[in-house]
Amino acid sequence: MTQLQAIVAAASVLSLLSPGADAWSPTNSYAPAKVSCDGKTGLTRKGGSISDAEASWLAKRDPVTSAALKTFLDRVTSNFADNSIVEQIFSQKAPRAGYAACGGGYRGMLLDAGTAAAMDDRTPGANEHGLGGLLQGISYITGVSGGAFYTSTVAYNNWTSVQEIIDQMNDGDHSIWDLSQSPLNPGGGDSDYTNQLFADVKQSIQDKADAGFKVSLADAYGLITGYYMYPGLAQGGAMYQWSDIQNVDKFSNGEMPMIIEVTAIVPPGATTAGLDATTIELNPFEFGSWEPSINAFTDMKYLGTELNNGDPVNSDECVVGFDNVNFITSASTDVINYITTQGNAMYNSMVAQFQQKFLGNITTDRVDTNIISPNPFKGTTFYDSSSESNELVETDDLFLVDGGYGGQVIPLTPLMRQERDLDVVIATDNSYDTTEIWPNGHSIISTYERQFMDIGKTDAFPYVPDYETFAGLGLTETPTFFGCDGSNLTDLAYVPPLVVYLPNRAYSYQSNISTYTFTYTKEARLGMIQNGFEIATRNNLTDDSEFASCIGCAVMRRKQEQLGLEWPSECDRCFQRYCWNGTLVNNTTPISSSASNNGTSTTTTTTTDGASYVTELTTLSSSEDFSTIHFETSTTITCDECEQPQPTVTTTTIEEDCSDSQAQATTTIECEECEEEAKANGNGNHYTTYTSMTTTTEVCEECEEAQATATGSANTNENSNGSSSGSSSGSSNGSSNGSNESSNNSNGSSNNSNGSSNGSNGSNGSNGSNGSNGSNGSNGSSSKVSSSVPTILQVTTSTPTYSGFSVVQNVNAANTVGITTGLTVLAMITALMGLF
Ligand SMILES: *[C@@H]1O[C@H](CO)[C@@H](O)[C@H](O)[C@H]1NC(C)=O
Ligand SMILES: *[C@@H]1O[C@H](CO)[C@@H](O)[C@H](O)[C@H]1NC(C)=O
Ligand SMILES: *[C@@H]1O[C@H](CO)[C@@H](O)[C@H](O)[C@H]1NC(C)=O
Ligand SMILES: *[C@@H]1O[C@H](CO)[C@@H](O)[C@H](O)[C@H]1NC(C)=O
Ligand SMILES: *[C@@H]1O[C@H](CO)[C@@H](O)[C@H](O)[C@H]1NC(C)=O
Ligand SMILES: *[C@@H]1O[C@H](CO)[C@@H](O)[C@H](O)[C@H]1NC(C)=O
Ligand SMILES: *[C@@H]1O[C@H](CO)[C@@H](O)[C@H](O)[C@H]1NC(C)=O
Ligand SMILES: *[C@@H]1O[C@H](CO)[C@@H](O)[C@H](O)[C@H]1NC(C)=O
Ligand SMILES: *[C@@H]1O[C@H](CO)[C@@H](O)[C@H](O)[C@H]1NC(C)=O
Ligand SMILES: *[C@@H]1O[C@H](CO)[C@@H](O)[C@H](O)[C@H]1NC(C)=O
Ligand SMILES: *[C@@H]1O[C@H](CO)[C@@H](O)[C@H](O)[C@H]1NC(C)=O
Ligand SMILES: *[C@@H]1O[C@H](CO)[C@@H](O)[C@H](O)[C@H]1NC(C)=O
Repeated sequence: MTQLQAIVAAASVLSLLSPGADAWSPTNSYAPAKVSCDGKTGLTRKGGSISDAEASWLAKRDPVTSAALKTFLDRVTSNFADNSIVEQIFSQKAPRAGYAACGGGYRGMLLDAGTAAAMDDRTPGANEHGLGGLLQGISYITGVSGGAFYTSTVAYNNWTSVQEIIDQMNDGDHSIWDLSQSPLNPGGGDSDYTNQLFADVKQSIQDKADAGFKVSLADAYGLITGYYMYPGLAQGGAMYQWSDIQNVDKFSNGEMPMIIEVTAIVPPGATTAGLDATTIELNPFEFGSWEPSINAFTDMKYLGTELNNGDPVNSDECVVGFDNVNFITSASTDVINYITTQGNAMYNSMVAQFQQKFLGNITTDRVDTNIISPNPFKGTTFYDSSSESNELVETDDLFLVDGGYGGQVIPLTPLMRQERDLDVVIATDNSYDTTEIWPNGHSIISTYERQFMDIGKTDAFPYVPDYETFAGLGLTETPTFFGCDGSNLTDLAYVPPLVVYLPNRAYSYQSNISTYTFTYTKEARLGMIQNGFEIATRNNLTDDSEFASCIGCAVMRRKQEQLGLEWPSECDRCFQRYCWNGTLVNNTTPISSSASNNGTSTTTTTTTDGASYVTELTTLSSSEDFSTIHFETSTTITCDECEQPQPTVTTTTIEEDCSDSQAQATTTIECEECEEEAKANGNGNHYTTYTSMTTTTEVCEECEEAQATATGSANTNENSNGSSSGSSSGSSNGSSNGSNESSNNSNGSSNNSNGSSNGSNGSNGSNGSNGSNGSNGSNGSSSKVSSSVPTILQVTTSTPTYSGFSVVQNVNAANTVGITTGLTVLAMITALMGLF
């Protein structure tokens, strides 16, 4: 504990509050507290309007954004022949703007940050070749999933700027967004740090359970990710509350935007949430839903209190401190449910191990979701009984999952609300829609379509085209404006804001990084952020020097329409360029909207001892049985310490029904033998890979001088008892010495990964043992165990809206140092974190 705190303190960059401050958790822990209600009633209200608190806040925020937008618009229209429109608008009513930060794991978080930097006058260069000042004019920022990591980070670090984060960015010092180590192993080589962190997380969860509250793996998920966002706070914010932001001056004075995150409710009795599931918005004041199935909001600060129709059931028992910042954020980002909905024994076993690790013997109602218990909407009557059942106001608990479930990976709906009266919304799209990890319009199309469902009937969203048109007109390659003509939107529930759509594409950095990559070096993080800046600015205004002006036109459009002002010719030109005008194309090779994505992707991993291997995923076509797990893996292992690296490729394709299969999927890859010289210097490394259903165990063997003439490469299988069979290779005992020295990796992370496949088991054992002993000539050669990581899984999903399949992969071979049993499971889960 002390050690961890020391490290955290040393690395701390921005610290908002300290224990003892007003807003700090009343228990000084993660556990909520029960306090007197002091006569409070009516803690839940009817939807249909913004809260009084939000209205008061907005009254403070409006003058700030108005001045900022005026400055921005004056600047970007200064080249107009006549820019008097700016004065005319501001003499009447200033526009309001929002920013929607798309999900997509760390890819999404970093690209969203880059776009924010491009709009932020605190970023050097943003005023000269960007949209500097626009962020200062924004009233609301929404985030979902990876986007919520961005919004929470900046909001709960005193509205820090992306530039400030960059200025303190480092690898290995646990600064904000130090993604050099994965949540699988936050301490890297410092296993004390990792162990302490996990012990603290477990203790926090125990504290909450002891206080009488339901817990799940979402608590662990949130607490661990907190260390990456709030390194300046003790235990990554385990004592810090979401509603605490009300007490931060910058927020209460209206000097920063309001952040809102989105989560989805799993319908009672269902396993997961689809596009038609009710969504909840999480704002600084309230927790609630505009949607007809609930249509109510509750006071965030008292979340966790048992209420009946908004009144405390026991007036002596109001709960505070339930709204921990990491717990609330986990509601928007939690994807553990994705694993459990696959309905196979192997996944369930993985989750069970993860549960054992963090919850111990605490029981949980629903391990895979964020649990809001009691349900704050219980007994409320504001839902629309003409179209909705009363199930969400009757149920005792709410089970929440990642807000991107169902397809809305861009958190647009809170910004579209008529009650907030926005004029323009800047929206990133960093979705993983295509095989190559680019967007194809799926998220925005989902939001468009949802307004025509019962659940979306109080929403409006501009018309958007079909997938073919997105592809055919290149709408996912350059910024596009939707809803340019308010007069064409009058058939919708109301006229929604104009949407500026900023799809991910590569400028200076190949930004289609896999969602499953959960470590990024500093260089990679900076590359992604810079690329986000370039996406938002059309490559720093080099692709179109008028682009900033065009964004200015988008900001002014609704007011210009409402006030009947003359539209500048420059804006007219911009709209010709950037507005989707209703045209549809017929593409002879339509891009797939969902399930038919397939293809191959490649990942290169470098292990800590310098070798590298390439993992190639071949995805599957859509027609596969959804209950089946598929693997098609090809691993190239380069023994780069050998004189001539000799890649070995083995491809295994396994399709098993995992409901009853265990351990079928074991593959051993034999390493080429090293060149004699390499062996002679004792540095030749051999890598052996065991692939099982869940794990890949790589064993690095040191070539021994004595074996210069060995014909059989060091290898694995047959020899080492059991390694190949999928049973634990670990059994093979100690042939060799030394596992230690090698390094890092050893220690069998894989070991555990679920009983089902034991191949993995081995790893531990493989440590030293590694079979080599046995046969094959390489007697006793092994002395290095490189690593053991979960492998490559390709899992078809039953929710084709995502993209037909999802891939779980841990390529983090270098990051498995000192991991103990159970953590491979975490690797899998963390790999899923960024799915949306
Ligand atoms: C938040 O930032 C402002 C300046 O932007 C600073 O004056 C204030 O002290 C900061 N608050 C905390 C708690 O660090
Ligand atoms: C674009 O501007 C940003 C911020 O000023 C800068 O970091 C980046 O290098 C620029 N990109 C290019 C391609 O010049
Ligand atoms: C849970 O485990 C702890 C020790 O790990 C033990 O003390 C406690 O009795 C257990 N509780 C139950 C209900 O089994
Ligand atoms: C990223 O996109 C490029 C070009 O579209 C493609 O060649 C590459 O394979 C993609 N990367 C991944 C990881 O899919
Ligand atoms: C609408 O957009 C399409 C594609 O960009 C373009 O070819 C067409 O000329 C535009 N139509 C009008 C009326 O501007
Ligand atoms: C205008 O509205 C019609 C429906 O009335 C819709 O089909 C069309 O796509 C809209 N055009 C634009 C540019 O939004
Ligand atoms: C293009 O698509 C539209 C609507 O799907 C259809 O009516 C039209 O016939 C198609 N045109 C061609 C040339 O295929
Ligand atoms: C991809 O899917 C298409 C049909 O959906 C199929 O024809 C094609 O063979 C698949 N390609 C691969 C590499 O699986
Ligand atoms: C593996 O070891 C077990 C006992 O540990 C033995 O029964 C079995 O025959 C061995 N298998 C091989 C292939 O050596
Ligand atoms: C390891 O080897 C020792 C002696 O060679 C033997 O007694 C022991 O059972 C072996 N352990 C395993 C797990 O095979
Ligand atoms: C193991 O390594 C130690 C030191 O490296 C060495 O002294 C010992 O002989 C080795 N044992 C075997 C069985 O190779
Ligand atoms: C293995 O590591 C342990 C502790 O890390 C150390 O005490 C032991 O000497 C090491 N053994 C070898 C052979 O390096």
